[in-house]
Amino acid sequence: MHIPDIIIAIDGYSSTGKSSFARLIASEFSFLYLDSGAMYRAVTLLAIEKGLVSAEGNVDVAGLSSALRDFDLHFIRTEDGSKTFIGDRCIEKEIRSMEVSGKVSPIAAVPCVRDFVDMRLREFGKKKRVVMDGRDIGTTVFPDAELKIFMVADLHIRAERRASEMIARGEKTTVEEVMKNLQERDFIDSHREASPLSKADDALVLDNSRMTLQDQMVWIKGVIRERFGGISD
Ligand code: DC
Repeated sequence: MHIPDIIIAIDGYSSTGKSSFARLIASEFSFLYLDSGAMYRAVTLLAIEKGLVSAEGNVDVAGLSSALRDFDLHFIRTEDGSKTFIGDRCIEKEIRSMEVSGKVSPIAAVPCVRDFVDMRLREFGKKKRVVMDGRDIGTTVFPDAELKIFMVADLHIRAERRASEMIARGEKTTVEEVMKNLQERDFIDSHREASPLSKADDALVLDNSRMTLQDQMVWIKGVIRERFGGISD
């Protein structure tokens, strides 16, 4: 299936299924998928391990800025996307833990962390044909992206989806605990000073509360056909 060389920016609230959707788009259209949240999560793991973030979420900004200078963060492509590494250590599982989820929003609010991540994301976008998901992709990272999607879904449905994923991975959690974390992250992400989560004026809203991934693919193919004049096989 062929579509034009574009950047697809997917933003939205936590656990709205952005990464599952972006991953499927990438595999159907042979695009590169980039999970910007994984970068913020990796920086959060670094901060936790170096003792640069307190239990209350206070960040040692000077310490973190210096730790980022030789932070060897990279991604290895896999069949269904990519895996996150620090040096040769795979951190994919650790960055999805409740501990990291609980501290990632204050870390993502630190301007030097955002600069570190933005610089890397823009490098990947140079060749186009990328689909990237996050909170500020369509507003800050790629304000000229040719297709911007803003995802929303009912809070209960989001919490149920995320809790069942975590339980399937062997983590102990409850829907209530996940819901509280989602509410806190949505609040901090939308109210921070640096690149807050907000819908770009030209983004299309997708509410997937009652949609399957296949329904979402049908929707995006319709949008692409309408906007770029056809998807050819
Ligand atoms: O998509 P996620 O839940 O893995 O993202 C983790 C956190 O990273 C999220 O709470 C906010 C932050 N984030 C951000 O501030 N900007 C992005 N582009 C992506 C994620």
